[in-house]
Amino acid sequence: MVNDIEKVLFTEKEIGERIKEIGQEISEDYKGKDLILVGVLKGSVPFMADLMKKIEISCSMDFMAVSSYGNSTETSGVVRILKDLDFEIENKHVLIVEDIVDSGITLKYLKKYLSAKNPASVEIACLLNKPERREAEIDVKYLGFNVPNYFLVGYGLDYAEKYRNLPFVGILKENVYKK
Ligand code: IMP
Ligand code: MG
Repeated sequence: MVNDIEKVLFTEKEIGERIKEIGQEISEDYKGKDLILVGVLKGSVPFMADLMKKIEISCSMDFMAVSSYGNSTETSGVVRILKDLDFEIENKHVLIVEDIVDSGITLKYLKKYLSAKNPASVEIACLLNKPERREAEIDVKYLGFNVPNYFLVGYGLDYAEKYRNLPFVGILKENVYKK
């Protein structure tokens, strides 16, 4: 698995340090507020797990699943809800937790979808951002790192559902997906 990685961009330690900072910011910004973290399955799972432990205020969590890429490395541009929220979010402060924002289509759709349920607010926390690929305008309030336009895997990010369990974020070798 590690042999398929061209280069490690962020180590487990670097990611952990950044997440600690973001957790502190969130803890201050949402003090005294009813916060619900909404993770986007499945890529956000490691980020969600580490981030929630660095949030020092009371909060709850929920998950949604949407389809984006299928098994390819290019987005289809179509967003479909595969799993909806378990809880009501009316009057709550929603923080969407996502692994990476690429075209922005998924998060733009999700933000609009969740905003329609009358929450007190909807913001986005994203571990990675590929600014070069942006098509839909979105505002990421809490961002881990900006990344260059390569296909990345690890720390939740997959290629054909594999590599999510790598503890770091790395560039996938082209020969793995260009055969
Ligand atoms: P967007 O709608 O184009 O912003 O797509 C976002 C989704 O595409 C993310 O949640 C990821 O699941 C996936 N994605 C985007 N870039 C990468 C990447 O470099 N590696 C793995 N998955 C990616
Ligand atoms: Mg995803």
